[in-house]
Amino acid sequence: MVKQIVIATKNLDKLREVEIALDGLPVEILSLADIDDFPDAVEDGETFEENARIKAKFFCEQTGLACIADDSGLEVEALDGKPGVYSARFAGYHAHDVTNNQKLLEELEKAGVTESAADYRCALCFIDTDGTEICATGIVHGTIKNVARGEGGFGYDPYFYLDDSKTMAELTLEEKDSLSHRGAALRELVPKLKERLLCTLE
Ligand code: IMP
Repeated sequence: MVKQIVIATKNLDKLREVEIALDGLPVEILSLADIDDFPDAVEDGETFEENARIKAKFFCEQTGLACIADDSGLEVEALDGKPGVYSARFAGYHAHDVTNNQKLLEELEKAGVTESAADYRCALCFIDTDGTEICATGIVHGTIKNVARGEGGFGYDPYFYLDDSKTMAELTLEEKDSLSHRGAALRELVPKLKERLLCTLE
């Protein structure tokens, strides 16, 4: 038996990370791009965990299939935790990586700092058709600096420095998977999911 699971994302990088993490489990992975065009979930939670749960529940109900959703973002200490759950739209409704990073630099300048401690956080939530919920979180600590380095990654990665002074944008995909907040959340989620699949698919 194989279980169909919808990954609630149209972001191919995220989809790929989840596919790699679930490799070897008895699952058929579908993305939102594989199924009918559904409306977006209203992500009005106050935490990453709430938003991941809202998205997973919404797409589970819409598709009638088990679903995994994630929500992630950056929290900068000198900005009182901003952009937080607004990371994707920090610079406004039509924001993208370039405008979000500009806004980040402006806010650092307004706060009178050139760097600040910061965290990337990720929440993942699996919801099954019977309502069973398995959630996991991951975090990576670092420093946001107002100098960009590296060509890889996405989002705030060129400004996010790890302890060894490399930015997230200077890592290979494999290095990022092993160090990132999403990688950590996946490593917590997968064994729990595996246990459930082994019990329910027998
Ligand atoms: P969402 O989880 O798709 O809602 O997007 C969260 C936003 O947080 C992204 O658009 C990025 O701006 C930021 N973000 C989340 N994870 C990362 C990451 O690994 N690197 C850089 N930015 C990230």
